[in-house]
Amino acid sequence: MQLSSFSLLLLLCALALASAQTTSPAASRAASPAASPNTALITTLKTAASQVDRVNALGDDFIFDFRGTLGVSEGRGGKTVAATARNFPALIGNGVAMTVGYLGPCGINLPHTHPRATEFNFVASGAFEAGFFMENGNEFVMTNVTQGMAVVFPQGAIHFEQNMNCEPAVFVAGFNNEDPGVSTIASNFFGLPTAIVGASLGGLNISSVEDLRAMLPDNPALGTEECRRRCGLSLD
Ligand SMILES: *[C@@H]1O[C@H](CO)[C@@H](O)[C@H](O)[C@H]1NC(C)=O
Ligand SMILES: *[C@@H]1O[C@H](CO)[C@@H](O)[C@H](O)[C@H]1NC(C)=O
Repeated sequence: MQLSSFSLLLLLCALALASAQTTSPAASRAASPAASPNTALITTLKTAASQVDRVNALGDDFIFDFRGTLGVSEGRGGKTVAATARNFPALIGNGVAMTVGYLGPCGINLPHTHPRATEFNFVASGAFEAGFFMENGNEFVMTNVTQGMAVVFPQGAIHFEQNMNCEPAVFVAGFNNEDPGVSTIASNFFGLPTAIVGASLGGLNISSVEDLRAMLPDNPALGTEECRRRCGLSLD
């Protein structure tokens, strides 16, 4: 094994150990949409000739309750609730969506991309360290945002939000697409064929790839070791 791939392996092992607070391998899959969509209403809205017809078809169904069970994704670091065209048909034709993140102390919304939307993420309470990586050729961008501030994540950028405090924190993320999509980096990378993942990591063998894959946490996950130590939280 080359030195570079060995260093990478060490790094990955360190990362994996740091997040050894993990759940089952199946849990690493990105949350699948829970309730089945109202396909009849969605078809009506998608084939409506005008906004007048869409508004009439919706009646008074213009409220999404972020305190409910729709669009919920839960992990050991907290939960996110997403309103998209799939679970909230009033968004169809309006080009927007929203996610509210309720992160526990040191919780992290794991690195992910939105393939079809730019995100404008407002801190409703607490403080987050937020970062994004746009694309090859860019530098990684990282910043701290606190209550009342908002950060932009351009469409397609890999980004994350880490609660830096020992208290719960809340963000509200707006999207300029009713179907922004989410692609969680680690679980989707490790969802590639094992041999391809191994080759991408400089020749990591299959059992090592499988070991790492089995450690991937649900989103939101427990956050950085530094934060968890500072807050006196368990490291596993
Ligand atoms: C964010 O704040 C923490 C705590 O003050 C600090 O350690 C960290 O360097 C800051 N990050 C950035 C990107 O400024
Ligand atoms: C894979 O690599 C690890 C770490 O170098 C090693 O301990 C293990 O024996 C290898 N497994 C196989 C099946 O080659």
